Amino acid sequence: MKIHVSKSLLINILIAILIIPVLIFGGFLISKDRDRNSTPKIASSECLPTFRDGGGPYYLPNSPFQTKIVPDGNNGEKLIVGGYILDTSCSDPLANSVLDIWQASEEGEYEDEYYRGRIKTDKNGYFKFETVVPLGYGEGTAYRPPHIHFKVWLDGKELVTSQMFFDDVKGREGFNDEFIMQIEEKNGVIYASHNIIVPDFEI
Ligand SMILES: [Fe+2]
Repeated sequence: MKIHVSKSLLINILIAILIIPVLIFGGFLISKDRDRNSTPKIASSECLPTFRDGGGPYYLPNSPFQTKIVPDGNNGEKLIVGGYILDTSCSDPLANSVLDIWQASEEGEYEDEYYRGRIKTDKNGYFKFETVVPLGYGEGTAYRPPHIHFKVWLDGKELVTSQMFFDDVKGREGFNDEFIMQIEEKNGVIYASHNIIVPDFEI
């Protein structure tokens, strides 16, 4: 049996074969670009890598995945912390990475079950968690101002251990601005934003 295919049908098929991959790949590029546009634009002068520290004695591995890390009925000041985890270039987000946090309670105590948790970042490297303002602890020269410890993990590999501080340490020796969260208070809730620039790591 002979199938007759018209010249115009052949041309249409040929156009479809050429155009479909362009549309698919173009769409991919546009969506990738849109994702990037959703991450903050950080000026190169402010693209300062997060400092590394040892993490101290209160870290526990495998803490629960939870975006609210405090128990109901706590006596603390409600705090919502959000930010982006970015690579050293300050433009590429660490999508699906894990922020692993632990902090003292509003009474300055570490606990095993609460005041710690793991949060997964979204495709833009964004994380958000609910907690309370921790109390500082220690006496005299050993005093530790309020802080939130964290580690960043990607694909099961630890990339950095560090801390976030509040603005009470501003100007204190040893506390650079990049350690300090940006704080805003609205209707009795404290909102903190803090971007984490993973040092020595490029996607
Ligand atoms: Fe601590």
